[in-house]
Amino acid sequence: MIRLNDFSKISSNIVGQAAHQYGTPLYIYDEALILERCKECIDMPHAYGLIVRYAMKANSNRTLLKLITDAGLHLDASSLNEVIRASIAGVPYEKIMLTTQEVHTGAEREKLEELLKKGLRYNACSLFQLEMIAPYAAAENIDIGIRIHPGIGSGESATRNTGDDYSCFGIHLSDIKEAHKLAKKYGIKFHHIHVHIGSGADTKIWRQNIDLLLSIIEEHFPDADTVCFGGGIKEARMPEETAADVPLLGSYARMRVEEFFNKTGRKLKTEIEPGTYILANGGYAVTRLIDKKKTTRSNFIILDGGMEINARPLLYGSKHPIYIVSNDGARVISSEFDSTKHDFEAVVAGKCCESGDSQTLDMDGHAVPRSMVEPHIEDIVVIGGVGAYCSSMSPHNYNSHPQAPEVLLTKEGELKLIRKQQTLEQMLENEI
Ligand SMILES: Cc1ncc(COP(=O)(O)O)c(C=O)c1O
Repeated sequence: MIRLNDFSKISSNIVGQAAHQYGTPLYIYDEALILERCKECIDMPHAYGLIVRYAMKANSNRTLLKLITDAGLHLDASSLNEVIRASIAGVPYEKIMLTTQEVHTGAEREKLEELLKKGLRYNACSLFQLEMIAPYAAAENIDIGIRIHPGIGSGESATRNTGDDYSCFGIHLSDIKEAHKLAKKYGIKFHHIHVHIGSGADTKIWRQNIDLLLSIIEEHFPDADTVCFGGGIKEARMPEETAADVPLLGSYARMRVEEFFNKTGRKLKTEIEPGTYILANGGYAVTRLIDKKKTTRSNFIILDGGMEINARPLLYGSKHPIYIVSNDGARVISSEFDSTKHDFEAVVAGKCCESGDSQTLDMDGHAVPRSMVEPHIEDIVVIGGVGAYCSSMSPHNYNSHPQAPEVLLTKEGELKLIRKQQTLEQMLENEI
């Protein structure tokens, strides 16, 4: 298997070849690493069956969806359009669970009903959604799930905590009685019980979430046969971060699900919904250094791709590893994972007219210098950890920059274009 990054050292010749062939900025995804992550999740210990749903909001490129679902994962979709995209990628509806903030009316509702009849799974995330879907589900004998808002969550930043009372995802614990009233009124039963407490969750809270959800099921959901613990499995992008231990988390979940069986006589199937863990470290943004500046405070290096490629530092204060490769791709000049030769500090900025367009922001939005080996204009600068929530979440047309191309490094070592660069005509085509 050819890997883009072994022992934390990026393969400069692959990066150089991609930059030369497709121009910069571009995204490059490492098939071997993505498949490894898929396998790790599928192999997670479980008691009575496991379904791993890839949270496709992390990255919805159809080639990646196909790769991941061919590896045995199902999908978590967060909008009707995501469901349609997944279907276009060849994923059968029965393998897709729709967990959404959307409320479908009119033509969207008709589409939803059509897809539910074809096997799409649906998770009610509010009392209103439940009230809207329950009569139809009862009439058509369609099984729907329920997303519980547990009131406790965890995320890498406050904006990624989806379980605490500052967020509004799911039917709050305090509304479970209302949900049951609606279920009784329309004659449906809840078999699939779901939570998602946030992205990059603290592992301790993820475990507490397992305990909490099982106790909620024991108390409130006598018909449940499936428990979904959501996504949020922590990935480590930077050398100082620690990733969640998936086998250990799985062993804990298995133990608790077995205990639940011993106590209640009910065997629950387990589901998880990783997005970040599957794809984050399998993606790299390849950019070129186009300018250098300094103030009395800092040096700045300016890249030809920034917030429109990776908005996570701006949105969350997230840190991503930076690698510098010589302009011909011959060698790695600087790696985040080997600081012994670092002799220079610089803020890494993009080309947007926005002071927050930096890859090195802190949690307060200040651009802070990062240590590195001093790069030169035209060198290639690679940002790691951008497989998830970068291409799919990018404000790509800001300053009228086009959406960047996406390239897959196959496990055999070939570079394959999986999304072309957007053209200026495409950017303008809907303007009247
Ligand atoms: C319902 C649901 N499941 C799973 C995920 C995936 O989370 P992560 O990428 O942190 O694994 C999300 C992300 O927001 C989500 O909303």
